[in-house]
Amino acid sequence: MLTHCDSRPADWMRKSTIEGLVALIVGGGSGIGEAAARTIAANGGFTVVADISIDNAARVANDISVAGGNTVAIAMDVSKRADIESTLQQTQARFGRLDILVNTAVLVKPASLETCSLDDWHACFRVNVDSALELARSCLALLRKSPSAAIVNVASLAGVTGYPGGAAYGPSKAALITLSRQMALEWAKDRIRVNVVIPGPVDTPLIRLQVKPDVLIKRAQQVPLGRLGYASEIGDLIAFLASPVASFMTGQTVVCDGGLTQNLFPVPLGQNLADGDT
Ligand SMILES: NC(=O)c1ccc[n+]([C@@H]2O[C@H](COP(=O)([O-])OP(=O)(O)OC[C@H]3O[C@@H](n4cnc5c(N)ncnc54)[C@H](O)[C@@H]3O)[C@@H](O)[C@H]2O)c1
Repeated sequence: MLTHCDSRPADWMRKSTIEGLVALIVGGGSGIGEAAARTIAANGGFTVVADISIDNAARVANDISVAGGNTVAIAMDVSKRADIESTLQQTQARFGRLDILVNTAVLVKPASLETCSLDDWHACFRVNVDSALELARSCLALLRKSPSAAIVNVASLAGVTGYPGGAAYGPSKAALITLSRQMALEWAKDRIRVNVVIPGPVDTPLIRLQVKPDVLIKRAQQVPLGRLGYASEIGDLIAFLASPVASFMTGQTVVCDGGLTQNLFPVPLGQNLADGDT
């Protein structure tokens, strides 16, 4: 016998189910976090755009507000406990609840294992792992009260494969993936879903800062779909996982990479796979 989930309308693709939920997006001032905030807001979610750069957070919140969204920008360094507490106090004061936590904040310290200083190693783990735990734990009390609580963490392919210069970044993202699975398991009893998104190369200020333009072009060519991802493509995935539509998904690691991880021996773009070196 078929049963169906009655917590959302059958025409969910037309009627947003994220409407009225409150989402805290950490790192929401740029790139993937910005895209997630915009998608959630465009679908009726209330957004708290938190970022270490208040200028960027304010820009995003202003755009959302002008488009009719209910939003607030907050200056927050996720690696500072006082900032986390202040952000949650402001969220509660403004909206009285929290349903969704999205964490995209990151620190990258490009280096090889041989040259990576222990200070850089610890700094990466502090922002990418320790803070993810501190942030999520601090949100628990509010999330437990939500009928539709979800956490989405953003990791990286560097957390599942080796990566040039990814000495501290990669292992920290691997830890974030495992941490997210552990959160999912431990907090399932509270009906808090936790999933982690792994983007492939996505055109954001971060990648443009880290990778030289000619290298970026080559990377795009190695993606089977022949291009970098758009931040909005990852933002849409985050919004889906955060929404009640994904109500039976938790503990999942969702890769969104244009097929990059399925491309063991890249062939030049446009060349038929059958024409490859067989
Ligand atoms: N762009 C890519 O190709 C790519 C690929 C794989 C994974 N990712 C991951 O996606 C996430 C977002 O990256 P992006 O490309 O959108 O980068 P981005 O630099 O465009 O955005 C990151 C945002 O996080 C904010 N931030 C940094 N440190 C912070 C802190 N301590 N507290 C609060 N905010 C902080 C930054 O100010 C910035 O607004 C990161 O976790 C990154 O590792 C990106």
